[in-house]
Amino acid sequence: YVIGVDLGTSAVKILLVDQQGNVVHEVSKSYPLIQEKTGYNEQDPQVWVDQTAAGLSDLLREADVNTSEVEGISFSGQMHGLVLLDKNHDVLRPAILWNDTRTTEQCQHIYQQVGEKKLLELTKNPALEGFTLPKLLWVKENEPEIYERASTFVLPKDYLRYKMTEKLHMEYSDAAGTLLLNIGEKQWSKEICEMVGISAELCPPLVASDEEVGTLTASFAERTGLNPSTRVFAGGADNACGAIGSGILEDGKTLCSIGTSGVVLSYEQGPDKDFQGKVHYFNHGVENAYYTMGVTLSAGHSLSWFKDVFAPDVDFDDLLAEVGSVPVGANGLLFTPYLVGERTPHADSAIRGSFIGMDSSHRRDDFVRAVMEGITFSLNESIDIFRRNGKQIDTIVSIGGGAKSEVWLQMQADIFDATIVKLASEQGPGMGAAMLAAYGCGWFDSLSACADQFLQEAATYQPKPENVERYRELFQLYK
Ligand code: XUL
Repeated sequence: YVIGVDLGTSAVKILLVDQQGNVVHEVSKSYPLIQEKTGYNEQDPQVWVDQTAAGLSDLLREADVNTSEVEGISFSGQMHGLVLLDKNHDVLRPAILWNDTRTTEQCQHIYQQVGEKKLLELTKNPALEGFTLPKLLWVKENEPEIYERASTFVLPKDYLRYKMTEKLHMEYSDAAGTLLLNIGEKQWSKEICEMVGISAELCPPLVASDEEVGTLTASFAERTGLNPSTRVFAGGADNACGAIGSGILEDGKTLCSIGTSGVVLSYEQGPDKDFQGKVHYFNHGVENAYYTMGVTLSAGHSLSWFKDVFAPDVDFDDLLAEVGSVPVGANGLLFTPYLVGERTPHADSAIRGSFIGMDSSHRRDDFVRAVMEGITFSLNESIDIFRRNGKQIDTIVSIGGGAKSEVWLQMQADIFDATIVKLASEQGPGMGAAMLAAYGCGWFDSLSACADQFLQEAATYQPKPENVERYRELFQLYK
């Protein structure tokens, strides 16, 4: 067996996977967000470690496997979160997470000090509130006494792995989201550190996703019931692992994941394409590969917001039941999903959502369809950027909540004008983490060979020409 640990924002999800790729057992342990002020989102790193240890121990007990048969473990993690450590590697303050938006001023400073052109040249990404460097600068400016004591920083799953092994590293696919990595050279950018006034010594040693970093400490092994000789592999950012776990492992492969936030992500062979920073450009968990990605912050969240406010007593299946009978275009109602600001392509934390074109003939089903269409249009803006920069997107693997509804899958095919593939068993980033461990343990010659064994297609959805045509007009209106 191998274990994939997905350290998410609301919970850690842990999968036990056998050599055929079957998920033999899974557990999930949740933890809270600390939100002291509007825009603040923090978590206690110790809680990640405790909940992972508790989850692993439940997993092994409930699955009743011989722990000597668990060969390897790897990780997927929420990206960008700043975990600041002192010289003894003790945590200095709660982690500031990816969805924390207090750093608008620091982003402006980065542009002033580095310049947009230089920043894009080195990191391929714009300065966004969610990324790690602005958070580091925020601590430096607002909590200088804490910053003074910092000896290094890591990202969430890197901290978890450190506590399990006592080996401290950051891994490339996650380091790419710090805004301090030269993603082409796969090295920390001393130039950026100098320009923004951050000591390059704060940056930890880098490793690849499939790299074996060591084995478990005796105390962590004892706490969980795992064998201390279990091999530990570095793992990847949740989006990189989501891509691995969906088979996005070669040129031409694209993923659409609609969860709380929504992501469209496409494989890139190298670091040299120029998307002008309009979409994110990160190192993949596959050696020397990359991916480009667009993020809609409030995707599934828009639908759950709508339900909570306007249909609190209706369950989701009932809410979506009639959406298929509402025509394409929701009878003239249009929704923009910017309930918490937006990343791609607007990069605007102050932008807000809207319903446009309401009239008294509209019923709740029209609103629900408009919300689903608005979320999908927003993701299509990123696909549009991919295509306008020369990427061919004709097949898209769809995962997450958006892949649970037939109507939504067909809507994706029609709005994206691409074949949509639904996977037979979809485990997202946790499966990607398990695949990194399986590959690291030598079960397969490549991650692609692992995907051939572990992932199966369940269904495909073809774009319907008349809907594609109608959505093309509506998308112009949406833009
Ligand atoms: C990606 C991002 C989110 C987090 C969620 O840039 O901020 O997708 O990784 O965990």
